[in-house]
Amino acid sequence: MEYATLNNGIKMPMAGIGTFLLTPDEAEASVLSALQCGYRLIDTANAYVNEKAVGRAMKRSGLKREEIFLETKLWPSFYEQGDAVEKTLQRLDTDYIDLLLIHQPAGNYVAGYRLMEKAYKEGKVKAIGLSNFNEKQIQEILDICEVKPAVLQTEVHPYSQEKKLKEFLDKEGIVIQAWYPLGHGDKALQQEPLFTELGKKYGKSNAQVILRWHIQDGNIVIPGSKNPAHIKDNFDLFDFALTDDEMAKITALDKQKRYYTSTPEMLKKYVEMVPPVDEQK
Ligand SMILES: NC(=O)c1ccc[n+]([C@@H]2O[C@H](COP(=O)([O-])OP(=O)(O)OC[C@H]3O[C@@H](n4cnc5c(N)ncnc54)[C@H](OP(=O)(O)O)[C@@H]3O)[C@@H](O)[C@H]2O)c1
Repeated sequence: MEYATLNNGIKMPMAGIGTFLLTPDEAEASVLSALQCGYRLIDTANAYVNEKAVGRAMKRSGLKREEIFLETKLWPSFYEQGDAVEKTLQRLDTDYIDLLLIHQPAGNYVAGYRLMEKAYKEGKVKAIGLSNFNEKQIQEILDICEVKPAVLQTEVHPYSQEKKLKEFLDKEGIVIQAWYPLGHGDKALQQEPLFTELGKKYGKSNAQVILRWHIQDGNIVIPGSKNPAHIKDNFDLFDFALTDDEMAKITALDKQKRYYTSTPEMLKKYVEMVPPVDEQK
């Protein structure tokens, strides 16, 4: 495993498992399978309505809590609820969260950030960060924060490499984490001839080549999968390295194509949307 060092000195694994769109049963199975393969980073969110299942998988793995890096995200409709972090801890059945993010730049996200800062100072959260914020919104947080964000989680893959945003983050000491690292399963991306060629050279799948590119480019990855064989492959990334020339060829695939773009209307809806967190299995 390779690690990123966050701006408060905490070490974060460069590869983990994502749980977006997984039912509680699927999330429990995927996370358990991942932990058994050697993964130590798990990404979930209030809005995925599977935090209880993630907590169960962590317990079932038999690993000590401190062996796992647990990441989750506060949903906008909870930003002004004083006990949002405590309730998140209860669902995850844990005393602390390794990394807590503001999920969306929607509603009163400054209030959400203040909740996270408080939890950080109380030791309930070891690092805090942002998700889906653009440069201007990150700057707004930097201007008012007492605890600097350590991580930005946003959409990054070979078709949308976010080079300019990464320069800004580097300057601010914020690490980037890629969601949709495999383009949310887009076949056109995964079947790019360059990945097939490099896969043959290294004896790896196209997905493994893409994930290796991310790691060498400094992006922490959290691919999602329900398939145990894919889960195993997506962690088998640390016994090969792409050359500078191969990295440059992948850089040339960037076409600033995103699979998801939020609109002001969507952000407004997010604030009104209350995920049924208490009803989850
Ligand atoms: N912060 C945010 O707003 C946000 C938004 C979206 C996602 N995320 C996070 O990012 C994570 C990753 O996103 P994602 O799961 O939607 O997209 P992804 O990781 O880019 O792609 C997942 C898709 O790729 C397939 N896949 C996975 N491994 C594969 C492999 N080795 N070979 C071939 N296909 C493979 C999966 O199918 P199989 O099940 O068949 O393997 C699934 O269809 C999420 O789970 C979530 O934790 C965060």
